[in-house]
Amino acid sequence: MAEIIDGKKVSDEIRAEIKLKVAELKEKYNSVPGLAVVIAGNDPASEVYVKMKEKGCDETGINSFKYVLPDNVSKDELLSLIDKLNSDSKVNGILVQLPLPKHIKEDDIIGAIIPEKDVDGFHPINTGKMVADQECFLPCTPNGIQELINRYVKNLKGKHLVVVGRSNIVGKPVANMMLQKNKRADCIVTVCHTSAPDISVYTKQADILVVAAGRANTVTGNMVKDGVVVIDVGVNRINNPHDSTKTKVTGDVDFESVAKKASAITPVPGGVGPMTIAMLLSNTLKAFELQNM
Ligand code: GUN
Repeated sequence: MAEIIDGKKVSDEIRAEIKLKVAELKEKYNSVPGLAVVIAGNDPASEVYVKMKEKGCDETGINSFKYVLPDNVSKDELLSLIDKLNSDSKVNGILVQLPLPKHIKEDDIIGAIIPEKDVDGFHPINTGKMVADQECFLPCTPNGIQELINRYVKNLKGKHLVVVGRSNIVGKPVANMMLQKNKRADCIVTVCHTSAPDISVYTKQADILVVAAGRANTVTGNMVKDGVVVIDVGVNRINNPHDSTKTKVTGDVDFESVAKKASAITPVPGGVGPMTIAMLLSNTLKAFELQNM
């Protein structure tokens, strides 16, 4: 049976380190990092994520400033809020929760955040630097995935890492980051996605498999080789098979069958999710340091 990759435990360790550093900043400079969190509309999943981000700030001593906007907010209103936050010295990081209401082009809003405050690592300047392996804000979920892989897999050099999914938030950045010629990466990377006639052709070759497909049961035990390390990025709400009145959260991987063959696997919940928040807090601390020191 596979070792469980405990994202909650690793994220707690990282959050404890951040809390200490924030307390030191408060002591030394009488000032702490600040994160602005903007949410537009009432997507229930986004509301849950934003609450978790605020809680993460509270627990580490980071100031959070929440802006809740209605579903019919105009692009200009959103842009003027971003402008205000860009020039507010108490705000070191700006996070606009995605998805935005359909009438607003996300790229227009993300592009308006100054790259120095783009703690999500979504601005094209940060994306470009990430691809070129330059110092930048790395996107939080891929950064958390890389951290977990590095803590649980020794000697990544030449390992075959297969990514299922090609989103801008996970698939593409993970592939780029794990391909880099540095000690935290140096993998041979394959990206596959829903246009493949049979993704198992690729998943079977993986030493490390990152699944970010957005669909439950995308990868089952017969699609992986023995000893694979599996990172499940999926968050899917499905009917609870044991109680039809309830739902439960599951990943993109069929945990039961894959865990029988894997050497290590992330659970859902408790795997990648907590790491995303830890990396957001870490980026906010980094933004404060870059802006003040
Ligand atoms: N929606 C889903 N994941 C994310 C994320 O990492 N950041 C933001 N801003 N929105 C998201």
